[in-house]
Amino acid sequence: MSFQRVHPLEALKNNPFVLAPMAGITDHAFRSFMKALDAGVVVTELVSSHGIQYKSDRTLSLMSFDETQRPLGIQLFGEEPEIVAHAAQVAEAHGADFIDLNFGCPVPKVVKKGAGSAMLKDLPAMQKMLSATVKAVKIPVTIKIRTGWDSSLRNAIDVCHLAHDEGITWVAIHGRTRAQGYSGLADWDYITEVKAQSRLPVLGNGDIHTAQQAVDRLKNSGCDGVLIGRGSLKNPYIFFDAYRLWQGKSSTEKQNRQFPMIFKKLYEYLDLYCQPHLVGIQLKKFAAWYSTGYPGASQFRKEIFQSQDVQQTLEKTLSFFDSISVYDQEDTSREDFLMGGHG
Ligand SMILES: Cc1cc2nc3c(=O)[nH]c(=O)nc-3n(C[C@H](O)[C@H](O)[C@H](O)COP(=O)(O)O)c2cc1C
Repeated sequence: MSFQRVHPLEALKNNPFVLAPMAGITDHAFRSFMKALDAGVVVTELVSSHGIQYKSDRTLSLMSFDETQRPLGIQLFGEEPEIVAHAAQVAEAHGADFIDLNFGCPVPKVVKKGAGSAMLKDLPAMQKMLSATVKAVKIPVTIKIRTGWDSSLRNAIDVCHLAHDEGITWVAIHGRTRAQGYSGLADWDYITEVKAQSRLPVLGNGDIHTAQQAVDRLKNSGCDGVLIGRGSLKNPYIFFDAYRLWQGKSSTEKQNRQFPMIFKKLYEYLDLYCQPHLVGIQLKKFAAWYSTGYPGASQFRKEIFQSQDVQQTLEKTLSFFDSISVYDQEDTSREDFLMGGHG
């Protein structure tokens, strides 16, 4: 099959809003959906290098994508440089536009083995992995980190220097330490400082809830791009709006909300790319997330999870979104929301 790779930095210049990788969420269907709604760059969830080595079907299915998603990053994690480098070659042969290495995952099972955010405590080990991976492939290699391991080791600046010297294309920083997990707030002052001192492109990440915030964070931090994760689960239009605001167009926030079209499109993507038994479950999850902050959301969630089939889920969802005014969405940014993940 012939295809044309897209360089992620070129894409970032045209649209600096990146869909943050989220395990169990940013699968083939959701990435296509968000790309159709103007995400600039998309990345798979973290994929195990060992799983690729052992040709696990489940692992390989995480790398599934289509041409509309370019540039697509395949995110890898692992602790052994040779195995990660080999996995990068497999991902490259699979058609990825770039490889993203995960150095942000705080999950004990991953960290105990020395992978994910554990690498932030061992920069010589990280250096070996960066060097082996960059040498193994022709496509760009990016990394995603946290600000550091804990408050006594906030070394994102050192990581950026190392990444620059090893030929990494960009560093994305989730503005919390590993020790913070998902508590507190992402430290954008620190991200701004790191960006100012770095010689390679830096992408900021953490707690972007609205399109206006995305544009403001980008401008005020000086970053080359921003990653949006959970914000895209409360508002499917966040990339669409941010992209327009960034282009200097007047705010479209809350205008033109077409929930029937949104759910029709989402359902189409789920139906195409999700395993059949998961379509209904995914649809319920997204309907529940998108209802966040609207009057009657908690009752709607109870009802939606009782639906017997996809048709009923769609009917209940459309009738709920038909009954609300998009202007009535409350700001829920201070409430806990998905407080665990792999980065
Ligand atoms: C459910 C969930 C799963 C996640 N999985 C990944 C992952 O696979 N790889 C990764 O680098 N980060 C992962 N993350 C972290 C996000 O990419 C992002 O750094 C974090 O959520 C902060 O950004 P946000 O406030 O915009 O969501 C995950 C986060 C969540 C909530």
